[in-house]
Amino acid sequence: MASFLILFFKSSVCFFMYISYKRTRKIIIKNRNMRLNKFLSVAGIASRRKADELIASGKITLNGKIVLELGTQIDPEKDKVFFNTKQVAILDTHLYIIFNKPKDCITTLNDERGRTTIMDYITVKERIFPIGRLDRNTTGVLLFTNDGEFANHLMHPRFELKKTYKVEIDKSLSPEHEKTLRQGVKLSDGKTSKSEIYFFPRQKRKIIGISIHEGRNRQVRRMFEALNYEVFSLERVSYDEITCEGLRRGEWRYLTAREVQYLKSKKEKPEK
Ligand code: URA
Repeated sequence: MASFLILFFKSSVCFFMYISYKRTRKIIIKNRNMRLNKFLSVAGIASRRKADELIASGKITLNGKIVLELGTQIDPEKDKVFFNTKQVAILDTHLYIIFNKPKDCITTLNDERGRTTIMDYITVKERIFPIGRLDRNTTGVLLFTNDGEFANHLMHPRFELKKTYKVEIDKSLSPEHEKTLRQGVKLSDGKTSKSEIYFFPRQKRKIIGISIHEGRNRQVRRMFEALNYEVFSLERVSYDEITCEGLRRGEWRYLTAREVQYLKSKKEKPEK
């Protein structure tokens, strides 16, 4: 009887261990799956939103077939994902770069018309991409990375990182327009959110500092143009606390570990 009870006890333990192993394995296998856009972003191809655009435009293949479904789940260990005939893999090293963009340089990775692009200046062999963009004639701080998740967080409207610009305009900014800029300007794509305005001594209100928390296309130029000012020059002087100090136009450097850590911490503590 005793040996029967021991045998029964042992087989019950084995049975429950087997069930629990099956459940854990199922969870592990389930968790290995990842959304395709996240995979492309972690692999440094683009931010998640850009990755969705690549998928929708038919540039991504999954196991030899074009995949258009945005919510597609993949198994990064088994599935073969290709972008423009190159297989995509998750890298274990990430690069973070700050560039002091000069004028007459476009924010694109390559230009069919042969114009000068940011990649004529940044000569790293890894595939990196800009975090946001600056217009052709806007100068100053532009960040690059191959860490799609990092880019994704910095560009997400919810985190609203402050970008500060120095704008040179054709005439003195009136106090009334200063107020409008601070409160929000009506643009074709909606009213802008509040901005901060600064003046420089002895510049007769023709050189203005403006900090915004959005990243719409040509936003600063459009804000001034909407109020009938001509923008002579535009420079991004800082991306949150990160500046180009010590870099001449056209020069770049790697962000320090401290700067990367600082920007990463921003995603956990979004600004109000
Ligand atoms: N706003 C603009 O108008 N242009 C830029 O390049 C960046 C912000």
